This record gives sequence, structure tokens and C-alpha cells, in this order.
Amino acid sequence: MERKVQEHTMTATLSSFMTDFMYDPDWARVDPASVPNIVTALPGPASNALHARSAEHMKGYSTQVRLFPVAFDKGHGVTLTDVDGNTYIDFSSGIYVTSLGHCHPKVSEAIARYAKTLMNCHDFTTPVKTWLLEKLASISPGDLNGVQLYDSGATAVEAGLRLMRAATGKSEFISFSNGFHGKTLGAASLGHMDSTQGLRAPGFVRAPGPYPYRCIWGDDVDDCGVRCVENLRDVIKQQTTGRVAGVVVEPIQGWAGSIIPTDRFMPALRDLCDELGLLLMADEVLVGMGRTGKMFCVEHWDVVPDLITTGKGFGNGFPVTAILISDKIKDAVEKISASTSYGGNPMACAAALASIEVIEEEGLCARSTALGDLLMARMERMKDEHPIIGDVRGKGCILGIELVKDRVTKEPFPEAGSLVYQKAFSRGLAWIPAGHILRMSPPLIMEDEVALKAMEIIDEAIGETEREFGYR
Ligand SMILES: Cc1ncc(COP(=O)(O)O)c(C=O)c1O
Repeated sequence: MERKVQEHTMTATLSSFMTDFMYDPDWARVDPASVPNIVTALPGPASNALHARSAEHMKGYSTQVRLFPVAFDKGHGVTLTDVDGNTYIDFSSGIYVTSLGHCHPKVSEAIARYAKTLMNCHDFTTPVKTWLLEKLASISPGDLNGVQLYDSGATAVEAGLRLMRAATGKSEFISFSNGFHGKTLGAASLGHMDSTQGLRAPGFVRAPGPYPYRCIWGDDVDDCGVRCVENLRDVIKQQTTGRVAGVVVEPIQGWAGSIIPTDRFMPALRDLCDELGLLLMADEVLVGMGRTGKMFCVEHWDVVPDLITTGKGFGNGFPVTAILISDKIKDAVEKISASTSYGGNPMACAAALASIEVIEEEGLCARSTALGDLLMARMERMKDEHPIIGDVRGKGCILGIELVKDRVTKEPFPEAGSLVYQKAFSRGLAWIPAGHILRMSPPLIMEDEVALKAMEIIDEAIGETEREFGYR
């Protein structure tokens, strides 16, 4: 009898994950009339005081914070509340992270359970890690059955570079203009952002990437992307020693301003990599896990890369990331140790597994598409009304509005971008600026009425900004 109980406990431990946990499906529902709820001038007095104390010591705040130094206290579902008691609509999911809403009950419970059971055991196997690995292999595209787990997007990208070197014996990499892949040396060397103050590792080459609104190859938008791929042949000849391990690409560029390539770009890139014997790594840290309407962004084009990174929404706020590895290279990389202090710790695995289950159980890929379509239609109408909107674009819940001084010259309008950002924030919209491109990435669970209210705030802020710059 005793033995039977033991066996039963063992089986349960080895195959079940939170099957006993239930939560109210309406946990995040808000009355659209009640948000945002602004009760002080913004930023409020408590925010200002706390931020001033913090800024004494915290060096290097982002532009986002410098433009609007609010101090947040709580997050629930699609809202954030600051230390003055003002409640904002969160139109950026933290920073593309809390796709399931702040403090999703299942994710919070998963983390809490493992915080009380086992917080760290290096890279030893645990039940919850095994379930996560199996889950990832079951949902990943094609033969991407290998997994390594990390704790930030940048460390997953660095792992990808290590793996590509190991698999090919080559050490040069090609990435695309305007890209962003993180702030460690290798990741920053792939990217466009000068976050390393000019420090760039050798062997990294950046080529023009697709940007349909500003295609450098001419006006034939259908060609945009394909021309970028064809150009890589020349880039390899002219700018590398020919020892290229692979190409790293954001299937949709997030930081650059929600830049969506034409449909032919990713398939053409896969074909070229196959032809030239290069590995292809898709950096999906920002665009994976349902953000664009598919679990993995590359699924939009039926492309299977050799490696995929995922992060941000992967743990819905818990720092957990992964790199998925194709069977094709798995033997070559077997000896590249994946162990880190925190990668794959039980809390991280629980958060990621719970998040994937929520995306599936709540149908959030389909929800992302539906909400994105609704917001795109609203943005198209805004474009008709606002002369400073040059372009609107989106796929699922990654959206962008590009502001220009003149629709013919397409001169970027960053001054307007900052002002619209601040004006909308002052009205209760927590979101992200990117120079002249407004970026929206609402939680996938946001209800239509709340999302439309957020868009209304942006619409008003653009109108007011146009008046201040003499466009109306
Ligand atoms: C595509 C992409 N890769 C990597 C990173 C780096 O992620 P982290 O900030 O978690 O290091 C980011 C961050 O925004 C990203 O957008």
C-alpha cells in the first residue's frame, strides 16, 4: 500500500502541472468607463519625490522614463497604478513582456509554488523543466526540438551566436540595419542601437533590412525584402572574409518601430541561407509567444529557421528566455554547455510553462490577431485624418504609427513623437516611444472597448500635437 502511494505521487510529479489550479476567467475584466483613472497632475507628487530619490543612484534611465518619470506601484491585468493612485491603461505590456496581463493568476501561482518548493538547483533536471522542454518541442516549428534556457533576451542571443559558431566552425555573422538584439557585446554588435558607445566586436556585418515604407531599392514594395536578401551575396563578398556562420534576423523589427517585412522576405532569406550553407537564426525575443498572432512569428511565412530565440512574453514578466535548436545542428552543439546561474530554474520554468498554457487555453493567438485587426482599422482611419501620420502598420498586437513632417519627403518627426508620447501618458496611457514612431503592444487579453479607448487617447494627443506644430 505504501509503495502504491509512493508510485502515485511519483507519477503525479512527473506528468502534471497545476492541474488542480482554477482561476476566474474574468479576473482581468475592467469597466472601460473606469480607466484610465487620473486623480493628480502627472507625474504626481509621490512619483516625483520617489523618482528624484531613485535617480540619485540609478544611472542610465531610458528615454521612456526620462520623458515621463512616473513611479509605478501595482499592475493588474491591463492596468498599471502609480504611487499617487493614478490608474493607467497599459498599452505596452510592460515592455512587450506581460502579454497575458499583469499578475496573471496562473503565472503568479506557478511562480509562488516553486518559490516555496525549489528555487535553484543549477542545471540539474527537475520535473517542471522537463515538462517545459517537452512543451516547447511540441509547439516549436519544424525540427526545432533542442532547447537551452536563459534569463534575458541578450543571453539567449549570445547563446545563439555560440551555437552557430560551434555548428559551423565559422565566426562571422550578418544582421540587418535598424535591428536590436540586446546590450551584451555580441548582441549589441548585431544591432543598430549604439548602446555600447561604439564598442563593436569584429566579425559582425550589418546589411540593409526590409522597411517597406522607406525601401532603399525603389518604389516597388513587392520587391522590398527580396532585394535585401539578394544584396546579401554582395555583402558577403565585399564585407566578410567568407567565414560566415549565419544570419540573425528579427522576423518583425520591434525596437526599430514595428517594421513588418513584405511576405517574400523570410522565405527568400531561408532559401538564400540554404543555398549558401548559412545558418538562420530568428530572434523572436520580442515578437514570439502570440504577440503577432502566431505562437512563433516565423509561422506567418511557414519558414523554419535553424535557431529561434524567445523571451519577454515567454514568462509573462518572470525573467526566462530560451533558444530553440534544430535537430540538424543538435549533435554539433551538444558539448556547448548551456548552464548558467539562473537559466532554467524551477520558478522560471513554471512561469514559462504556465504562460504557454494560458496562451493555448485562452486562445490568445487568435485574440492577438482579432485585436490587432481592430486597432489597424482604427489606425487607418486616423491616418486619413492626421497629416503627420506617414504610415500605420501592424501584425497581431505589434503596431506602429510613423510620424513625418511631410508625407511626400517622409522626413521623420521625432519632436512630434516625444510630444504625443507625453500627452497620451498625461491622459493615462502607459506606453513606449521610439523617436518618430509610436509603438503599441497591448496585452493580448485587452478587451476591444479598452483598446479603442487607448487609441482614442493617442488620436487626441496627435491632434493636439499637430495644432502645436501648426498643422491645423
Ligand atoms: C529582438 C530582441 N532581441 C533581444 C532583446 C534583448 O532582450 P533583453 O532586454 O531581455 O536582454 C530584445 C529586447 O528588447 C529584443 O527586442
